[in-house]
Amino acid sequence: MPWHEWWPYDPVPVIPRTDPYLVWCESKKVYWWCACGRSQNQPWCDGSHKGTAFKPVAVIPKFNGPLILCGCKHGENRPRCNGTHLWVKAQRYTPQACAWLFTVMFCMGMTTTWLWHP
Ligand code: FES
Repeated sequence: MPWHEWWPYDPVPVIPRTDPYLVWCESKKVYWWCACGRSQNQPWCDGSHKGTAFKPVAVIPKFNGPLILCGCKHGENRPRCNGTHLWVKAQRYTPQACAWLFTVMFCMGMTTTWLWHP
C-alpha cells in the first residue's frame, strides 16, 4: 500500500506515465523538472503546478548527453529515475505484474533445477 493511501495529508502528484523519460540535455543549462505531473510538456515544468503544493526541481547536467528522468513522480531520488515506477506499475496493473512475476520465477526455477539437478 503506498504511503499516500493511509496518510492522506501529503500531496499526491499526478502520474503522467509509468515509464521514465529519456531526454537529451546540454551541460550547465538549467532545466526545470515537473514534480506535480500536470505539465503538458513532460518531463519539464510548464507552470501548471500553480495552486498545488509542488514546485519544479532544477536539473543542471554536468555533461551533454542523455538523462533518465522520473516519469511516475513518486521516486525517492527525484528527478532521477530510481526504479520506483516498477512498483507504481505493479500497483496499477496488479494481475499483469503477478503473471509476469510468476513467469520469471517459474523460468528461474526451471533453469536452476536443470543446472543443479543430480
Ligand atoms: S508543471 Fe509540474 S511542477 Fe510545474
